[in-house]
Amino acid sequence: MPTVLITGANRGLGYEFAKQYAGDKWNVIACCRDPSKADALKIPGVQVETLEMTNESSLSALAAKLIDAKIDLFINNAGIYSGTDGTLGDDKSQTFGSIDPAAWAKVFKVNTIAPIMAIQALAPILKKGDGKKIVNITSRMGSLTEMGAGSIAYRSSKAALNGAMRVLMHDLKNEGLSVYNFHPGWVQTDMGGKNAQLTPEQSITAMRKTIANLKESQSGSYLNYDGQPIAW
Ligand SMILES: NC(=O)c1ccc[n+]([C@@H]2O[C@H](COP(=O)([O-])OP(=O)(O)OC[C@H]3O[C@@H](n4cnc5c(N)ncnc54)[C@H](OP(=O)(O)O)[C@@H]3O)[C@@H](O)[C@H]2O)c1
Repeated sequence: MPTVLITGANRGLGYEFAKQYAGDKWNVIACCRDPSKADALKIPGVQVETLEMTNESSLSALAAKLIDAKIDLFINNAGIYSGTDGTLGDDKSQTFGSIDPAAWAKVFKVNTIAPIMAIQALAPILKKGDGKKIVNITSRMGSLTEMGAGSIAYRSSKAALNGAMRVLMHDLKNEGLSVYNFHPGWVQTDMGGKNAQLTPEQSITAMRKTIANLKESQSGSYLNYDGQPIAW
């Protein structure tokens, strides 16, 4: 069966990806910051690995450990909304008039730079897999066409991630890898909150179906969870 590696797999969307792929008998490498607090990942077929996305030593240790693995799909999922403990729609650190530059930099480090460093660390392993797919979980809030007020750190971090992937699609093509950028919908997780439109099960079921049908020619695309293109 194919193998998927997922970041931020201990809760939210990452956990739902791990649960569903394991349920389909895939081999799942589920990464989280603290495996001792990830009891939910004690699922048959799931191998739990430690990964702090912003720590280059953590990334290189994971890559060294997995050097002989064959990984078909990399789901670059881990992310944060706020550099403080702000919640969606209620975060003064990214509201005009009270923007906190240190908090903004933290969001950029986790949401923009870390996913790129993770791809760079794992590319030599991903090249050996059969699937050769990288899926970034970005957000519609990073669409320049659809920009609204507020959430400037989160929105700009995802817009920058999207932009960087338009560069990497070319670099990765030379490596035989494809990269896709997904908006998962507004989903009921710690980040999305209870009022979100979709359950994790609905979002991930639809996204997995879309991912299974992705073509190499779609590399670099920005897609809704149901496969519809999103305007940059
Ligand atoms: N939920 C939505 O409505 C929605 C909408 C659009 C896009 N997204 C995107 O979807 C992805 C998953 O979001 P979610 O809703 O599942 O959020 P979540 O429930 O808050 O989960 C976030 C996950 O990312 C991990 N993480 C955060 N910082 C990390 C770091 N530095 N190193 C390693 N892991 C880290 C967290 O680990 P800890 O438990 O250790 O903190 C957790 O596993 C994010 O990229 C988010 O931006 C979500």
